[in-house]
Amino acid sequence: MTIEQAEKRIAELTEKINYYNFRYYHDNVSEISDYEFDQLLAELIALETQFPQLQQPDSPTQRVGGTITKEFAQVRHKYPMLSLGNTYSEGELLEFDRRVRKLLEKQPVEYVCELKWDGVALSMTYQNGLFVQGLTRGDGEQGDDITANIKTIRTLPLRVQADRLPAEFEVRGEGFMSRHIFDSINEEIAEENEKREQEGKKLLSYLANPRNAAAGTLKMQDSAIVAKRRIDVYIYDLLCENNPFATHSEALDYLKQVGFQVSPHYRKCTSIEQVLGFIKEWETKRENLPVDTDGVVIKVNSYAQREELGYTAKSPRWAIAYKYKAESAATELLSISYQVGRTGAITPVANLRPVKLAGTTVKRASLHNANEIARLDLHEGDTVLIEKGGEIIPKITGVEITKRKAEARRIRFISHCPECHTPLVRHPGEAAFYCPNEKGCPPQLKGKIEHFISRKAMNIESMGSKTVDLFFEKGLIRTPADLYQLKQEDILQLEGFKELSSQNIINGIAASKQQPFSRILFGLGIRFVGETVAEKLADYFKNIDALAAADKETLMNIPEIGEKIASSVVDWFADPDNRAYVERLRQAGLQMATTSSRQTISNKLSGKTFVISGVFQKYEREALKELIALHGGKHIATVSSKTDFLLAGSGVGPAKLAKAEKLGVKIISETEFEQMIS
Ligand code: IVH
Repeated sequence: MTIEQAEKRIAELTEKINYYNFRYYHDNVSEISDYEFDQLLAELIALETQFPQLQQPDSPTQRVGGTITKEFAQVRHKYPMLSLGNTYSEGELLEFDRRVRKLLEKQPVEYVCELKWDGVALSMTYQNGLFVQGLTRGDGEQGDDITANIKTIRTLPLRVQADRLPAEFEVRGEGFMSRHIFDSINEEIAEENEKREQEGKKLLSYLANPRNAAAGTLKMQDSAIVAKRRIDVYIYDLLCENNPFATHSEALDYLKQVGFQVSPHYRKCTSIEQVLGFIKEWETKRENLPVDTDGVVIKVNSYAQREELGYTAKSPRWAIAYKYKAESAATELLSISYQVGRTGAITPVANLRPVKLAGTTVKRASLHNANEIARLDLHEGDTVLIEKGGEIIPKITGVEITKRKAEARRIRFISHCPECHTPLVRHPGEAAFYCPNEKGCPPQLKGKIEHFISRKAMNIESMGSKTVDLFFEKGLIRTPADLYQLKQEDILQLEGFKELSSQNIINGIAASKQQPFSRILFGLGIRFVGETVAEKLADYFKNIDALAAADKETLMNIPEIGEKIASSVVDWFADPDNRAYVERLRQAGLQMATTSSRQTISNKLSGKTFVISGVFQKYEREALKELIALHGGKHIATVSSKTDFLLAGSGVGPAKLAKAEKLGVKIISETEFEQMIS
């Protein structure tokens, strides 16, 4: 095929695919089968691969993703993304209306009521009709550049013909995951987990709620996965210089007309009574929408009036969000269970008479700690009020005291571990009770093994918590070091294990011996030594013997290591059992030292610590980190008195800048940095 023929065919295919996409996503009509559609798309992808110079930035192939973004660039918003004042009360809405009318000196006011979608705020920039950049809200001043991910949203036009708008404009809206996509992903996870359970593999976690799912998806680094998750967007705002419209509703109508997805459920209201009517009407109707909503946004319609009203420090005076109260239900408290975690912390969980709440049956509610039980003054058999917030497990928000029986006894937090019966202790300044029997309490021992094999530690994928439970109960393992003594014959003796599944486990354990030193450090489960601290310690000490020998002062000299972490590390290595445990891991062949593959080019930055913030002209952030290390310097995340330089790009974080100035940390540009290493 000649390039001319390819160009013609690409144009034909693009037009067809765009048409079918529009019919499908806007009108809900499939004019051709999925198979035929996929054939067209596959042909276009093939042609664009063969003739990359012909690929258009708004090609429908862009929506299937494929871009891998290592770290999202931080970009400053041209117009800050403000938040809205919130209220749950009608009284405050009347107050808002009075304030608006007073400031506008009795001019007639028109409001636009819109549903408040429960998703993620997004900002999309168009230049000469072409979608060029999509950002998250971030801190309102600057957000993450997630353009590749936003391109996968099928209802967002990649090119528009918007003749009434200037060459550059921005639309804002709420990115969301519809409830049925959310449910179907969780169903897929359930199916996959069933398989994994049979194979004794680690289970996948479920998506908590559509909002978190949308936020998490849009921050994924592989846009091909984002494309599969079918994120959608409702556009609710237009921003540009010389806005040609007099009112917000005109802007919305125009945006809809040129192809943006604007929710049809907005309404103009000329009085606050009409606004209250809209709120009441949607309180129940919203349950039938395919998208979660958590309230109504009320906006002054006229742009001129908006300008007169202006802004407070954080939000516009011309808009307010009315939030519906979280759904709640009353039910009986049947009992309290106490769970023991890996660190020995005891978490109380309320067992409830099953009750329907926001579409699901609730049987349990989290209580966090003993203070929460005391705060609620819980008594046996109490009728409790439960609410669903963003989490999957609902929480108890109150007690119906009038329903309490006279003889009901106050619930007293347990004094002994429910598993090993050791008296519980409380660390000064902490709310949780702990079981101190860390070397003998079964759930703590099992929890430590689970932590050791977890994804961010040794990543032994062939084992899950069920397998750990079983091996522990059968006496095959008691500490993570025992894993490396396991033999296939031991596993084959257990019910349900065959040649393949047992070999899988042995292979997974053997492969973990290649994990780097920092992961082992994290896997040891030393209090306060999370993933990042483990990396820092590994980087600094290079091997476990140097770390074990370090005193508190040495540890505290390391940037970002404070007294709490230092004490915890020193205490841990002071325990002979822990030292013996480390020896067993060493004998098993685990990496107890960093295998430094990185060579240094110079010592020009030796002993110097750098914080990087902002966007740079020449270098990606990762490249700068690499350069710092190559010249013997250290990169750290936060500005402190131990920081030598703040390497600041455009859009440097204002908090970081202020802190650096306050502490007298030298602020340098990309060019100055280059001079330092040249
Ligand atoms: S207007 C000046 N309209 O609610 C603020 N926001 O704090 C302009 N939201 O996270 C926002 N639905 O993403 C507006 N119909 C709607 C909305 C909406 C949801 C979100 C928004 C932001 C929060 C406002």
